[in-house]
Amino acid sequence: MKYDVKDIKLAGAGKQLIEWAEREMPVLRLIQKRFAKEKPLKGVTLAACLHVTSETANLMRTLKAGGADVYLAASNPLSPNDAVAAALVKEYGIPTFAIKGEDNKTYFKHLNAVLDVKPNMTMDDGADLVSLLHTTRKELLAGVVGSNEETTTGVIRLRAMEKDKALKIPVLAVNDNMTKHMFDNRYGTGQSTLDGVIRATNILLAGRNFVVVGYGWCGRGLASRAEGMGSHVIVCEVDPVKALEARMDGYRVMPLVEAIAIADIVVTVTGDKHIIDVAHIKAAKDGVVLANSGHFDVEINKVAMKKMAKSIRTVRPFVEEYVIGKKKIYLLAEGRLVNLGSAEGHPASVMDMSFAGQALGSEYMWDNKGKFENRVYALPPEVDQEIARIKLKSEGVEIDALTAEQKEYLASWKEGT
Ligand code: ADE
Repeated sequence: MKYDVKDIKLAGAGKQLIEWAEREMPVLRLIQKRFAKEKPLKGVTLAACLHVTSETANLMRTLKAGGADVYLAASNPLSPNDAVAAALVKEYGIPTFAIKGEDNKTYFKHLNAVLDVKPNMTMDDGADLVSLLHTTRKELLAGVVGSNEETTTGVIRLRAMEKDKALKIPVLAVNDNMTKHMFDNRYGTGQSTLDGVIRATNILLAGRNFVVVGYGWCGRGLASRAEGMGSHVIVCEVDPVKALEARMDGYRVMPLVEAIAIADIVVTVTGDKHIIDVAHIKAAKDGVVLANSGHFDVEINKVAMKKMAKSIRTVRPFVEEYVIGKKKIYLLAEGRLVNLGSAEGHPASVMDMSFAGQALGSEYMWDNKGKFENRVYALPPEVDQEIARIKLKSEGVEIDALTAEQKEYLASWKEGT
């Protein structure tokens, strides 16, 4: 078996992490049990490009149990867990190509390695595999029945391809499942981003000015978690509706150039580039901590920061000190997503729902192969209902059901005042 991991001897430790995550993934466990019986993915060769974590390992096991041949590469150079990568290879027989801290060349070598198996389905977190399939690996496109996308940034890229009529395969936007973005993006990113900031710096959050840039689902979650830790939260947002929402949620709202002048911590969660740029660095308070939790490492303009810096040194793992003029500015996890760079990503309990969507999405794509156009599709709403129903049941939560009379009332227009 071909693979590329840091140290295969870490497999034992990785298996323990994978089993620990599995305890918190009841929805995926149930799907895995059904997949093992029904083998709905027989005939699938799946190349996946995801963050290589213990939660992802459980998704890979589920897809394999369903009959798929799975191959996994990292979706970010800094996010792989080396022990998990080793366990995937040694304990579960899943070819894995991922090394924490790999350089860009190795990153793309790993992506190409999973494409070399000539997959008939792909799975992305950020659309890098789909992008390669449409550029340097075009010869493989004809054999691919479709792809799944995990994250907002990837879906935005894919919709841009669709708009340009450049998309040559159908894609399921798993991110758009309610049971994904309302929970993973909000509670997952909220908690894991704070976890990343705290593990990297061990700074106190109480009483500090904590700036959240971007008030999408991730920003909403992060702001509420930072507030819960006692920070004074400031939100910066370009969309007036979201900015108004942030204000009515109780946060101060202002332009970033003003916010950064009083900020102790700034975290970008926008999905766009150069959010923190030269003007912001010039305005920043001495000692400010900068982090990014958006998918790509372009939100903080670190190229400009490097040019402006008199010196740069690593002061703790995942903390670089930039001396710029008379100020010291601290950049976490090289500006890559801090929740996976210096922590372990979202907790398993939310990834359970996200990856249940991936597993059911793969089954849906394979069952309906040939029926899709080359567009970005949402999964049917029943998938959300099913995932939420199982999740509630696993947590011992029961809910009410509408009576026949209530259903009839909602369906009719005749009964009014
Ligand atoms: N994205 C964010 N957190 C993650 C995790 N724990 N596993 C895989 N992908 C993630």
